[in-house]
Amino acid sequence: ENHQEEKIDYVFKVVVIGDSAVGKTQILSRFAKNEFCLDSKSTIGVEFQTRTVTIKGKVIKAQIWDTAGQERYRAVTSAYYRGALGAMLVYDITKRPTFDHVARWVEELRAHADSSIVIMLIGNKADLVDLRAVPTEDAVEFAEDQGLFFSETSALNGDNVDSAFFRVLEEIY
Ligand code: GTP
Repeated sequence: ENHQEEKIDYVFKVVVIGDSAVGKTQILSRFAKNEFCLDSKSTIGVEFQTRTVTIKGKVIKAQIWDTAGQERYRAVTSAYYRGALGAMLVYDITKRPTFDHVARWVEELRAHADSSIVIMLIGNKADLVDLRAVPTEDAVEFAEDQGLFFSETSALNGDNVDSAFFRVLEEIY
């Protein structure tokens, strides 16, 4: 453990936000442990997982924070966003309201996070093609308008999860 610690050049804090049940915890598990759980429970409070990656020859420990999307658990804000260099803002491509709420999450980020935070908009559950309720173009337009990066992912099959995190970590670096 100590041996590992010695080699780390940077620790980057990244937060995962978005409505309840969009797949925040599963995206994080996919990235940190390459795991997925179909009947995952709603997150209570705040948890974080880490994964150490190498970017341009530097060893970067990504410390990724996950919190409940449910309003009733959200007493976090300032402490949660403090020191965050990146944010994964997740919606569910099969649930239109979760995309409609993205603007509110951006407002929360602008209010509580550092103004230089790198934001990646993520349309998750891209494997559920037949249930799609949010056209890709709508998200592309919103992301361009707000200056966010954008990707559609599937925590279930792993599509684009690593690349989305790497994009954010590279941009922070
Ligand atoms: P809160 O903790 O309540 O904020 O929810 P969350 O956003 O962390 O969602 P969670 O990761 O717990 O996932 C919610 C449900 O969606 C679970 O049943 C997951 O198995 C499922 N799920 C998550 N990601 C995907 C995905 O990419 N595809 C499919 N088909 N299901 C997914």
